[in-house]
Parts: sequence; C-alpha cells; structure tokens
Amino acid sequence: MCGIVGYMGSQDAVPVIMNGLKMLEYRGYDSAGICTMDSGDVEIRRSPGKLVNLERLLKEQPMRGTIGIGHTRWATHGKPTVANAHPHKGGSVVVVHNGIIENYLALKDELSEQGHIFISETDSEVISHLIDEKMDSTGSFEEAVQQALKMIQGAYALCILSKKDDKTLIVAKSGSPMVIGIKGNEYFIASDMPAIISNTREMIIMEDGEMAVFRNGGVKFSTIYGVEIAKEPRYIDWSPLKAEKNGYPNFMLKEIHEQPQAIKNVVAGRLLEDEGNVFLEELHLNDEELRSFERLCFVACGTSWHAALMGKYLIEEYCRIPVDVEIASEFRYRDPLVSGKTLVIPISQSGETADTLAALREAKNKNAHIVSICNVIDSSIARESDGVIYTRAGLEIGVASTKAFTTQLVALYLLTIRLGRANGSIDLKKGQEMIAALSELPAMVEKTLELDLQIEEIACEYLTSWDAIYLGRGISFPIALEGALKLKEISYIHADGYPAGEMKHGPIALIDRDMPVFILAPNDRHLVKVRSNMEEVITRGGKVVALCSEGDFETGKRADFTLHIPWAGEALSPVLFAVALQLLAYNFAILKGKDVDQPRNLAKSVTVE
Ligand code: M6R
Repeated sequence: MCGIVGYMGSQDAVPVIMNGLKMLEYRGYDSAGICTMDSGDVEIRRSPGKLVNLERLLKEQPMRGTIGIGHTRWATHGKPTVANAHPHKGGSVVVVHNGIIENYLALKDELSEQGHIFISETDSEVISHLIDEKMDSTGSFEEAVQQALKMIQGAYALCILSKKDDKTLIVAKSGSPMVIGIKGNEYFIASDMPAIISNTREMIIMEDGEMAVFRNGGVKFSTIYGVEIAKEPRYIDWSPLKAEKNGYPNFMLKEIHEQPQAIKNVVAGRLLEDEGNVFLEELHLNDEELRSFERLCFVACGTSWHAALMGKYLIEEYCRIPVDVEIASEFRYRDPLVSGKTLVIPISQSGETADTLAALREAKNKNAHIVSICNVIDSSIARESDGVIYTRAGLEIGVASTKAFTTQLVALYLLTIRLGRANGSIDLKKGQEMIAALSELPAMVEKTLELDLQIEEIACEYLTSWDAIYLGRGISFPIALEGALKLKEISYIHADGYPAGEMKHGPIALIDRDMPVFILAPNDRHLVKVRSNMEEVITRGGKVVALCSEGDFETGKRADFTLHIPWAGEALSPVLFAVALQLLAYNFAILKGKDVDQPRNLAKSVTVE
C-alpha cells in the first residue's frame, strides 16, 4: 500500500512528483524514492524514512527531467532500507510498484539463473528485471511490459520507465488503484486523485488489466493483452481539502477537536424531523426495496470494523434485521453466504482498503446489493458501490482514525432510522426521538473534550504500564475494542478489549496491580452487571478507571479514577465514550513522546492484502 506518482510533460518532474508524494504519505512512510529520465540519463534518489529525508537528499543531489516516477513505501517484503526503497532498477528498466507480487520468488529464481542480479529483498524488483529480460527478446518496451505482466501473479499499480525507450512512460494496474490526470499534453499519474488534483481535474480511472503508454505528448490505452481501448476523462468537481494543523501541535489532536463539526456535517440536510425519518437519497433504495433484504452484512477492517460492530447492535436492536459483521480479509476467502437478498455494507474511511474492496467485489459477484459508508469521495469503494453514505468527516490525516470513526457511528445511526422507519420497527414517535437526540450530540462531544486534563492525569498515572484492558458490555463493547486499538497503535502499549462478562473466562488471569483496566460503564441497561465485573477486577488488585455517565456517583466509588461522560442515550453515548478514549490514547502517546500522526509500521490507507 504504497503511494506512486508519475509525470510526463513540459515541467520539471521533481517538484510535481514530490508534491504528489506529500499527498500520498498516508499510504506509507517507510521510505521514498524518485527517478527522472533526462535525454536518456536515468537518475534515481532513494531515502529510508519519511519523505522529508528524500527532500533533504534532493537538495544535496538535485536531479532534473520532464519524465519521472516517484514512490512512498509501506514495507511488505524487505526492511525499510535504501536498497529496498523504490524505484527499482533491473537492467534498463525502472519501476515503482504498489501491491504484492505473489510469485516473485519463482520469477526471481528464474531470472537469477538468466544472470540478473538482485540487490533488494523486495517482491517489486523482480518486475523491472522481468521487463528488462522481455525487452531483450521483443525489442519493444510496450510488448515487454505486456509479456511480463502476463507472468505476474498478485496485485500491482506500476509506473515504468526504460533507458532504452527514453521518451516513454508506461503505467499498468491490476488490483491496486491508479488514476491519470490530463492537462493538454501533460500527464499526471497517481495512486489517488488528491495527489494530482491540484494540477488538473480531468481524470481517467484505470481499471484492472489495463495499461497506458505515454509517448510524444499522447497516450494510448490498451489491455495488458494489447487490445486497444478508448477511455474518456471525467471532470472531478470536488475540491481537494488542505491539510493544515490550524494551530494544533499535530493532526490527530486537530481531528479529535473537529468532531463536533464533523458530526454536524454528517447529519446536515439529512434529518426529516417531522417525519421522524432521515433523507438518504444516496442509498438509491425505496422503502419497499429496503424491506426486501433478508439480512445485512457489514464488511470492514480495523476501526471501521469496530464501527460495523456498533452498527449491528443498533440495527438488530431498533430494526430487528439480522446483521453479520465480517472482517473483510476473512470474508473474501470463505465463499460467503450472501445473495441478492443481502444488503452488503462495506465501511471504510479511505474507500481504498484492499481487503474491503475485494470483499465488496466478492459480494457483488454473488449479486448482493452494495451500499457503502465511506469518507473519501470518489474512492474505489465509493465508485464500485450501488449507493454510498458519505460520512463527510473531511480530510483525516492522522493515521489513527478519530473523526472518521465517530462520523461512521453517526452514519450508522442514520441508517438505522432509515431502515427502521422503512420496515415499521421504528414508529413516528421513536423516529422523532432518535432524531431529536442527535441535535445535542455535537455540544456533548465538546463537553467530553473538556475532560482532557483529567484524562491526561490518568495517562500520567499509568504511563509505565506495558498492558491495558478495556471492558464494555452491549453497545459499549465495540467502543472498548476501539479504545484498545487507539492505545496500541499510537502509544505502542499492548491493550485488549473484551466484553466485560468474558473476563472471568480467561483474561482475568492477567489482572494484577500493574494492569490498568478501563471500564466503560454508561448508564444503560448493563450498568449493574458492569459494576459486578468492576468488582471482580478490584478484588484481584487491578487498577480501575471507570468511565461512567454524568450524574452517576455510585459506579466509580471504588475505582482508582472516574471519568464522567455526558449521557446522550444508549444509542449515541458510545460516540462520547469513543472521544474520551481517543483523548486517553492521545495523552499516553504524547507523554511517551511518540509521533501520533505517523505511528511506526502503519499507513493510513491499506491497499495491500
Ligand atoms: O480506510 P479504512 O477505514 O478502510 O481503514 C481500515 C483500517 O485500516 C483503519 O480503520 C485502521 O484500523 C485505523 N488506522 C485505526 O485507527
């Protein structure tokens, strides 16, 4: 899930590519590299670590050329070293690659026997050598690429240059995203539109099995089997959002604080107060069609999967429709039981997560109707769905999902009302109540954000802990999972979330005086049971932080710390608990001196399996 950028035109390629890569760093920041072609001279610069290191290198060793390709890497095969950084060069051929070549070892053995010398541990390097080998036999860059691609198994988006055909740039795609921006005779290529939209709004979206050959100011599209195809650009009318910290020390804190507004955005124009309903035209489904689904199936990964779990609680409770929640990477490989009577709902902030996209395609092949919940407009998942509920969270830069998550929860709440009103399980009065509850939510999020100082104190107290446990029951269980994930990914403290009632079936063995246990105890139907679970922890010497509802002075009496979270009703309070747990993870990470926006080993958009 790397980011790739290519350019061919009349400008100096380096700044165009570097600007594009900056917009793609969310795809990975293990290393970065760039290659330009200038009158047959191939120049390559590569640097381990974040893009800023490559920028520094380019200042020391500038390069020029009006054709170029660049890459920002999230390491899969091979450590994040210079040798493993893209672009990779095999003979005369240079490539940048996003995806995974699954048969690279066999190809590498074969090519090594033919005399090719490999310098990296990557799967990607094999592509350059393979094309180089094919160039020797075919004498044609284009044919060599076609022949090589037919031998490759796995996923790829590629930009390819060859010293032997120095006026040509070739791109190809299968499984990994690729778009081409066109402005007169200039071509901007990228994994994602935001990388190039400041240059042009005329975009061509590449489909699997397609390639494009740029030469002499023109472009020719074909399949990888050489069948020419016509592709028309479409005008992209949305504006790129600017990544600015607006005075915050980092993007994560800014995005946490943007949640009141983000929640207002997700509901804006969608509430039909009098009808106790919501307006979700983008579903492209009327009441009768909504009623026709026998079941719903969410597919998602990571934080979005936690949102899906909360969606299950909401929809089963209020709409009485059976809901499955599937981890996308598992779903696609087990011949899932979906049919035309299943509404499949992929949830994804980026809309590019490879596993979620593949799950969507699998469900589509089985005739399921697809309505996705996405943040990024025009992303692959959004484009391939029959309907999309956009979460309107705005640009999320921090790798740890915050406002994307809470807006997903609110979008799911809206979907619940829509489904429940369609099948009659939510009546007019209940619908009106559910909508009214939303109006208070942004202010309550503001109030939750004011707990920051208390939360910082808690983080200070447990800063040396190696592990933490998060407990919740019912609709709070997915929030416990999400709280634990937030802590893990940005502070590197091991944390697990459990349904509070499961503790005694194993995890309670972990409890000792060094183990902080964060217990989600909202004022809902599970409160009495959660109090008992809390006692079980206290009895065994565990350290308890009780997250209770405002006005509840009972639950936290025997806890080491208590946080009082505003009460927004059973269905919406999880949003507020999620915000408190974001702040908790944030404070841990900052106190430990970690980079919260770009935590180690992670990437914002996971475009490999
Ligand atoms: O873009 P997506 O929502 O599809 O991403 C799914 C996960 O990779 C993502 O939620 C990940 O778990 C977050 N970094 C967690 O904060």
